[in-house]
Amino acid sequence: MKSALFTRFFILLPWILIVIIMLDVDTRRPVPPLTPRPYFSPYAVGRGGARLPLRRGGPTHGTQKRNQSRPQPQPEPQLPTIYAITPTYSRPVQKAELTRLANTFRQVAQLHWILVEDAAARSELVSRFLARAGLPSTHLHVPTPRRYKRPGLPRATEQRNAGLAWLRQRHQHQRAQPGVLFFADDDNTYSLELFQEMRTTRKVSVWPVGLVGGRRYERPLVENGKVVGWYTGWRADRPFAIDMAGFAVSLQVILSNPKAVFKRRGSQPGMQESDFLKQITTVEELEPKANNCTKVLVWHTRTEKVNLANEPKYHLDTVKIEV
Ligand code: UGA
Ligand code: MN
Repeated sequence: MKSALFTRFFILLPWILIVIIMLDVDTRRPVPPLTPRPYFSPYAVGRGGARLPLRRGGPTHGTQKRNQSRPQPQPEPQLPTIYAITPTYSRPVQKAELTRLANTFRQVAQLHWILVEDAAARSELVSRFLARAGLPSTHLHVPTPRRYKRPGLPRATEQRNAGLAWLRQRHQHQRAQPGVLFFADDDNTYSLELFQEMRTTRKVSVWPVGLVGGRRYERPLVENGKVVGWYTGWRADRPFAIDMAGFAVSLQVILSNPKAVFKRRGSQPGMQESDFLKQITTVEELEPKANNCTKVLVWHTRTEKVNLANEPKYHLDTVKIEV
């Protein structure tokens, strides 16, 4: 009787084990996310400011061994790096502007900030700021020649060119990694959605800019997915009637047009964008973003000059404070 029970038990045991294993595999299968993960995430920054690469699929660790017989998922294509070139210069609101900008950029995955000071040397304020910003960054400087520091003349020409030169130098010897370049002035306001839009730039992409050109917004006019003109209230004769904040360029285009730079000579006021874009693309080639250029995702805000009328001539306070 006892041995009969034993035999039955040993016959059933493998089946019981199989059922247990099947149940186990099923409950450990990763749950697919309901919606694709966005490119940006408030949780994308790791400890110590290191950026964690954002994975767009579900978690894979701990499940790989068990699913070996299933087809393996394709490796994720690399997330293109967004290079933001920001010219900046010393003034009472500089640190406040940079703080707002860093707070935005910190929420964007895979962003590299190229901050170019309009100065003869890197300032302590900006160096300290960047060291604590928790962002992958490059700190450059180049002074604007005195003769160009006049009202009515374009600003930040030398600084943007320094950013372009750094990018080309960095990618000189390697096959171009996927990347997108964007000129991010330090006083504008950027939505996080903007970075999602520009990330897919193939050559040159464009979108509307709010609060610019004497209107509530300027925008490229789009028909059948192509840019056919410009909605603008200022110098509609510009070949590309667009603000610096209204376009992005792929790294590949920057590298394959090594001579494309911002020009001082022969450039008329407000023509910097057109002069640059003419060197790398045509209107027909532009890629409209932001729902066929019907959404404003960036604003050309300008900070008012601060009133320092009551600031003492000599230092009066007992402590020295960086503002
Ligand atoms: C407009 C455009 O949006 C700018 O992209 C363009 O460079 C500028 O006109 C121009 O006139 O060239 P606006 O708001 O008038 O912008 O210019 P700012 O915001 O004063 O300057 C644009 C960028 O250059 C800012 O990031 C600013 O920090 C920097 N800048 C300005 C310098 O590096 N040095 C300066 O002397 C002035
Ligand atoms: Mn501005």
